[in-house]
Amino acid sequence: MNNTINLAVLGLGTVGTGVLNLIKDNINELTRRSGHQLVVTHAGTRRHRNDIDPSIHQTADLMAITEAEDVDIVIEVIGGTDVAYEVITHAIRHKKHVVTANKALLAKHGNEIFKLAEEHGVQVRYEAAVAGGIPIIKIVREALAANKIDWLTGIINGTGNFIMTEMQQKNRKFGEVLAEAQALGYAEADPTFDVEGIDAAHKLSLLASIAFGIPVQFDKVYCEGITKISLQDVIYAKELGYTIKHLGFAIRREHGIELRVHPALIPSQALLANVNGVKNAVMIDAHPLGQSLYYGDGAGAGATASAVVADVMDLIYVIDAATPSDVPHLAFIPEELSDIGILPSDEMTSGFYLRLTVKDEVGVLANTTRILSDNGINIDAILQRDAHKSGLVPIIILTLPVLEKQMNTAISQIEALGAVVEPVVRIRLESLE
Ligand code: HSE
Repeated sequence: MNNTINLAVLGLGTVGTGVLNLIKDNINELTRRSGHQLVVTHAGTRRHRNDIDPSIHQTADLMAITEAEDVDIVIEVIGGTDVAYEVITHAIRHKKHVVTANKALLAKHGNEIFKLAEEHGVQVRYEAAVAGGIPIIKIVREALAANKIDWLTGIINGTGNFIMTEMQQKNRKFGEVLAEAQALGYAEADPTFDVEGIDAAHKLSLLASIAFGIPVQFDKVYCEGITKISLQDVIYAKELGYTIKHLGFAIRREHGIELRVHPALIPSQALLANVNGVKNAVMIDAHPLGQSLYYGDGAGAGATASAVVADVMDLIYVIDAATPSDVPHLAFIPEELSDIGILPSDEMTSGFYLRLTVKDEVGVLANTTRILSDNGINIDAILQRDAHKSGLVPIIILTLPVLEKQMNTAISQIEALGAVVEPVVRIRLESLE
C-alpha cells in the first residue's frame, strides 16, 4: 500500500451527499478491501457547500473536473439526461472511468454511451441505476452468468411501492404519501417518473438487456403507472386473495420478449406481495438455477451510495489489473447482442382483473361470460356485489392468461352491452408461476 484513487463526485444532492458520507464513515474498511486510499478530490456543485470537507475542490465547472489530472473515476449523480450526457461522454473521451446512478440517461443513451466507453477503453458502471442498494446488476451480469434467464419481474420503484403500501395499509391519500416520499429523498426530481411507471421502465430496459443480451430498448417498454388504481380495486383484489403491486416484467416468449411495467394483481401469499414500503425486490427465473429473489432498499441516500461505492471498488480492480478488462457493459459481448424483437402490447399475455359496473338486469352476467367465452377467455373467478344505492351492480371477473388483443376485443364488446354503464376497469393479473 498504497497509492490513492482520486474520485470526483458530480452532484451533491441526496445521493452525492450520501456518497461523501459513506466514504467518510467507511474509509478504513474501503482501504482494507481495496488496498488504496480513496480520496474525493473534486465535487461538482452549483452552490458551494460549507458542510463538506474543505480539502474537496468544489466547482460548477463539470467539464474541467472530468479533464482533471487528479481524477481517476467520475461519479455522476446529477440526474437528468442533458448535462449528465455531456459530462459522461466528455469524461469517457478523457479516458475516465464513470460510475452513474442515472437510469434515465442509460435507458435513453446507454447503447451509445457503452459503445463510446468500449472505444476509449474505460468502463461505465451503473449498479445504483437499478433497484437502489440491491446489487442486481452484479447478480444478473456476473453471479447468474452461467444461466439462461427465462423471465424476471420486480418491484423496482421504491416511491411507487411506498405509496401503494401506505394507501393499502393505512388508507392514506396519494398526494400526501408522495410528498413524504419526496421529503425522504426517494422520489425522482420529476415525481411523475415514479407514479407513471417511467422510472420503473427505465430500470426494466436495463435489466432486460443484461438478462437476455439485447440492446437497451426503453422506447419499447409498455408502461402504465399507479395513478389510476382506486382503493375500491385494492379492496376487491384483497377479498379475492390478491395484492396489487406495481411491477416490471421482462419475459422471454417463443416469438419475442415482453417488456412491460404496470400495476398487477399477484397472489397475496407470494413473496413479492409482501415487499412493502420503499423496499424493492427482483425475482428471476433462470435455468438451471430456478427462481431466486433479491430484496432490499430501492431508494434513499445510504442504499444508493452503497451501490455507487461498490462500483468504485470494482473499478479499482480494473485500474489495478496489468491488462485491464471487465464484464461487458450489457453482460454479453457487444457483437453477440441479439436483435430478437420486443412484442407489441397486443401480443402480450397475462391474466386480467375486470370490474364492470352494470344495471341490475336479467342476462347481463350471462352476456358478459358469453363474450369472454366467444373470445377464448377462460374465467377463473367471479364476484358479484350487492347493488349500490344507485341500483348499479359491480361485477368482478378474474381470467386466466390471455393474449391482450383477445381481451381488448372482449372488453369493447362488453362495453357495447346496454347494461354496462361505465368503462370496464382492467388490471393485469399474474400468478408468478
Ligand atoms: N425514484 C426512485 C425510486 C429512486 O423511487 O425507486 C431510486 O431509483
